[in-house]
Amino acid sequence: LSLDDDMLRSETGEVQGIPVTKPICAIWDQVWNFKARPDDLLIATYAKAGTTWTQEIVDMIEQNGDVEKCRRASTYKRHPFLEWYIPDSSPLGYSGLKLAEAMPSPRTMKTHLPVQLVPPSFWEQNCKIIYVARNAKDNLVSYYHFHRMNKVLPDPGTIEKFTEKFMSGEVLWGSWYDHVKGWWKAKDKHRILYLFYEDMKENPKREIQKIMKFLEKDLDEEVLNKIIYNTSFEIMKDNPMANYTRDFVGVMDHSVSPFMRKGAVGDWKNFFTVALNKKFDEHYKKKMADTSLVFRTEQ
Ligand code: A3P
Repeated sequence: LSLDDDMLRSETGEVQGIPVTKPICAIWDQVWNFKARPDDLLIATYAKAGTTWTQEIVDMIEQNGDVEKCRRASTYKRHPFLEWYIPDSSPLGYSGLKLAEAMPSPRTMKTHLPVQLVPPSFWEQNCKIIYVARNAKDNLVSYYHFHRMNKVLPDPGTIEKFTEKFMSGEVLWGSWYDHVKGWWKAKDKHRILYLFYEDMKENPKREIQKIMKFLEKDLDEEVLNKIIYNTSFEIMKDNPMANYTRDFVGVMDHSVSPFMRKGAVGDWKNFFTVALNKKFDEHYKKKMADTSLVFRTEQ
């Protein structure tokens, strides 16, 4: 596999002050003008908040618990990653827009865009959106390891350096703080189901039932149990259609850190020093003073 060197560890661009990859910048007008359909479902998250997990749950619900159907393709092909774009000239070529346009309805798509960058047609069509948020510390630690293993992303440097960038919003898809707060506000005006990674870990059954209700799906207990089992971390870790081992070979190095890394709440404690934690908490308090949003950082 030969890779375009300029795709690896490359500089980022910006859309309305939000850092995104250079290729996404280049096609931004097309992303913004994307035509959503009324029966589209969008799964929105800050990167590493539990997107893949939620995608698997949603797919299992939509396929009525049919495991074989859910293994028809990799996650990112089953659900177009709306804004993600790598030109065809690269062996990694991918266009979420093209994939979505070619997909018959009803479609489920994924995005990491902050709420203000969501293409307006999603609001105009009153599409359902599932947003998943994860506490800042675990989200950061997961994002840090993902930067280490995924060479399409910038080199993260040390955890201290990456934390600085995370706090100032100088990471891809921008500020975690603005992301979770922006979507939290939006949920009062739109059809948004706002979920928390920590709740999903605590009681997957309850949270899966919330998603079923939101999707107006009624599945019996047996199917529900099958969904709980097949979307557990242990099973998804070994599912090649969900664990990203079939995709981006040569770009994602699972020996550095597997995509399905820990899947836990509170793992940040293994990476934050006391000093880093203190600094982070002080900054966090200021950034989150203007919201009713509360996160749990331990199970
Ligand atoms: P960790 O790095 O903390 O392990 P995303 O899909 O948004 O990129 O998020 C990836 C994170 O979700 C990773 O977190 C991954 O391990 C975790 N994850 C994936 N599937 C999961 C599951 N079924 N249960 C719990 N966590 C899961």
